[in-house]
Amino acid sequence: MHILQVNPEQPEPEAIQIAARIIRDGGLVAFPTETVYGLGANGLDSAAIAGIYRAKQRPAGDPIIAHIDHTDQLATLAVHIPPVAYELAAAFWPGPLTFVLHRAPDVPDNIAAGRPTIAVRMPSHPVARALLAAADVPIAAPSANTFTRPSATSAAHVIQDLDGRIDAILDGGMTTIGLESTVLDLTATVPVVLRPGGVVVEALRHFIPDMTVQTRYLKADEAAVSPGQMLKHYAPDAHLTVFTGAGRRQALYDATRQHRAAGQRVGLLVTDDVLDMLQSDAFKADLETGVVVYALGAPDDLDSISRKLFDGLRALDARQVDVILALDFGREGLGAALWDRLLRAAEGNIITSD
Ligand code: TXA
Ligand code: MG
Repeated sequence: MHILQVNPEQPEPEAIQIAARIIRDGGLVAFPTETVYGLGANGLDSAAIAGIYRAKQRPAGDPIIAHIDHTDQLATLAVHIPPVAYELAAAFWPGPLTFVLHRAPDVPDNIAAGRPTIAVRMPSHPVARALLAAADVPIAAPSANTFTRPSATSAAHVIQDLDGRIDAILDGGMTTIGLESTVLDLTATVPVVLRPGGVVVEALRHFIPDMTVQTRYLKADEAAVSPGQMLKHYAPDAHLTVFTGAGRRQALYDATRQHRAAGQRVGLLVTDDVLDMLQSDAFKADLETGVVVYALGAPDDLDSISRKLFDGLRALDARQVDVILALDFGREGLGAALWDRLLRAAEGNIITSD
């Protein structure tokens, strides 16, 4: 596997050319986008796309997003494109917004897992843009993690999951948003958000006031009919519990105490204020040995929390904690996407304390 270091702002053309050639030749290249790392293949080559499913161990029923680099490509991938798609593209592309549209006849079946639709997005990350331009084909790319694992926000995460299974990585450092794109289904009469993400629902509502949000949390056997909506997703190895409600801080604190009393190593995925609280009290002696804290930033800094969330889950796993405890970050703005990822990472294990 080639590890190609690139400047995230101005990627070196030599590295981009190597990666683009691999894509054109039917290989697999992981690359940074502004949301998470993608695992890319030529979006017009069904054999290359089949390789993505194998490398990720992803079920054949879960469709993949096609990444493009200019709006004209939309009409080569989709048909019956509603005008609102172009309005939204003008406002939010390049950026973390994916449209589900009716699929054009020549687009390979397996990028869409056999569905009559196609998901399309134009990423803004300079490395993704350079790769798309050099490869000169749409690039099929799911998040570059093994199925059900937390998404990859750095090249190190990609290597953890996919070393030996892919041809190359463009290493452009940590991604900036850290959560995946918002998936918006424009094939229904009324547009539906299927996955909250980097473009917040509040911003989309300006354009589509009647839009609905339909996030579902399905068991593995139900998920076949509704791709990407499985409850278990983004899950760390350690058992994750998320605390919500007005009494969530105290509940997290009490749970930490109980797990410590039972001799377990506790990982805390919390904002800086909680870390300050722990440092000033009884846990001080325990910090590092029995309690490992991953600090996500200031409690009102949802950008920082989003950027660090998946890294935090993976970093705490690497410290071999027995359990991970986390707090809810609200539902406003990026809070909606954070809540969705936490709920799935915890497989529904939420404790509400009023
Ligand atoms: O930010 C992102 O979207 C990242 C970067 C790499 O672009 N990609 C990503 O891909 O998150 P993935 O495969 O991990 O998630 C794509 C989501 C899945 O929930 C999938 O089920 C949904 O989009 N999806 C893709 N095609 C679809 C379709 N035709 N209809 C409904 N949902 C679709
Ligand atoms: Mg994914």
